[in-house]
Amino acid sequence: MQDHAPLLERAFARVPRDADYQLEPSAGEVPTFIRGSYYVNGPAGLKRGDLRYRHWLDPDGMVAALHFGDGGVRFVCRFVRGSKFTAEEEAGQALYRTFGTGFPGDQLKRGIGLESPVNVSVWAWNDTLLAFGEQGLPWELDPVTLETRGEYTFNRRLNAISPLSAHPNFDYTSDEMFNFGISFSARHPSVNLYRFGGGDLIFRKRLPLEYPCSVHDFGLSPSYAVFYLSPHLLDVEALMRDGATLMEALSWQPERGSTMLLASRETGEAVASFPIGSSYCLHLANCFEDNGHLNVDVIELEQPVYDQYDIPELFTDVRHAQPKRYIVDPEKGEVKDTAVLDYRNMCDFPAIDPRRAGRETRDFWVLGISATEKPGRKFFDQVVHANWHSGEIEIFQAPAHHYFGGEPIFLGDPEHEDRGCVICQRFDAESETMDFLLFDAFEVTKGPIAVLPLREPIHLGFHASFHPAG
Ligand SMILES: [Fe+2]
Repeated sequence: MQDHAPLLERAFARVPRDADYQLEPSAGEVPTFIRGSYYVNGPAGLKRGDLRYRHWLDPDGMVAALHFGDGGVRFVCRFVRGSKFTAEEEAGQALYRTFGTGFPGDQLKRGIGLESPVNVSVWAWNDTLLAFGEQGLPWELDPVTLETRGEYTFNRRLNAISPLSAHPNFDYTSDEMFNFGISFSARHPSVNLYRFGGGDLIFRKRLPLEYPCSVHDFGLSPSYAVFYLSPHLLDVEALMRDGATLMEALSWQPERGSTMLLASRETGEAVASFPIGSSYCLHLANCFEDNGHLNVDVIELEQPVYDQYDIPELFTDVRHAQPKRYIVDPEKGEVKDTAVLDYRNMCDFPAIDPRRAGRETRDFWVLGISATEKPGRKFFDQVVHANWHSGEIEIFQAPAHHYFGGEPIFLGDPEHEDRGCVICQRFDAESETMDFLLFDAFEVTKGPIAVLPLREPIHLGFHASFHPAG
């Protein structure tokens, strides 16, 4: 089998260290309009004591920040000190079963779920910085130093076993947060839809599901919460009964079909549910309404991708993906039309200009894998800018041994609606160095406009966000 990601194992070989220092560009300049804090979370380090993790979702979360200010760029990174991290540090060994790694005597949280490694995403909500894992409560961090302040309970309205995803959506006009979590009960599976505001829980609605499916993300338009439900079923009893890992307890059952579920954003009540084929969606890009139609932009995959996260043999058999727009009549509960963009490589971490969330999307950015469908390991080696209006796809292709990490989020120029940068990480596996790269968001093909080298590499991140200054 060919290796399309030579030396990729080096990206996962070391456990990064907490750090705090100034960054100086090695090339280019940081645009002066960038003021505020960029954050990225992701699984860091493959080892805990003698245990070597096998799956990309296993390691503990580490958050990195770039604070852009008048004095330059300050880099900070720290492990999130969640319950799992703290207990295992004290014990000097792994204690908990993880997404893809089990071992004799491993523990579950209260015997029913995984203790969160808090390793997926990080968001500033008002002035509160929250790090999230796949399920479980977020952990609050100091927005500057990234020190862990404690588990965030939403004013004690949620508890340690409340299901909650790593993908909140925000209404920046009302400062409300929407989020969801899946209850994987075999008899009564449901999606819990939450609306938070004013530091409190406004509602929690339980929407019944046909089957206990794993759902990672959801969308929010001005009127609807939008769920792309794929038949990736979790047998939670296998986790408790048979000592299975979460990965082993998941099964892909495409014959059951996928469904789009719409709920009222105002009340949380279900308003429509209808079939949408048998594909899989890990991430939505944006949802907006136009002439009575709901537009749902997603990255659609042929099948789930978590079985492609074996470290360091990532994405060995990964299949095509495609950016797709569902144009839905929400009143009738049916798909009126679809549109696709001409990019078929596996791609992930879609990002839009956050100022356009809930409004018509023209542009978005993703990381792509050039060797999609060729057998052999591979990794993200393309930064992609796509335009829904023109259909144009613009690609920055990394040279050999260079790999990208971290959602390529958009940093908008406050003075110009159509200007901004995207930022992501680059790991050079040959020299074992890492940089943060800034691209002109609308000219990614030209390559980075600024390169910010780190003193030593950290992990390749998952989701990122930006909290503007002031
Ligand atoms: Fe995600």
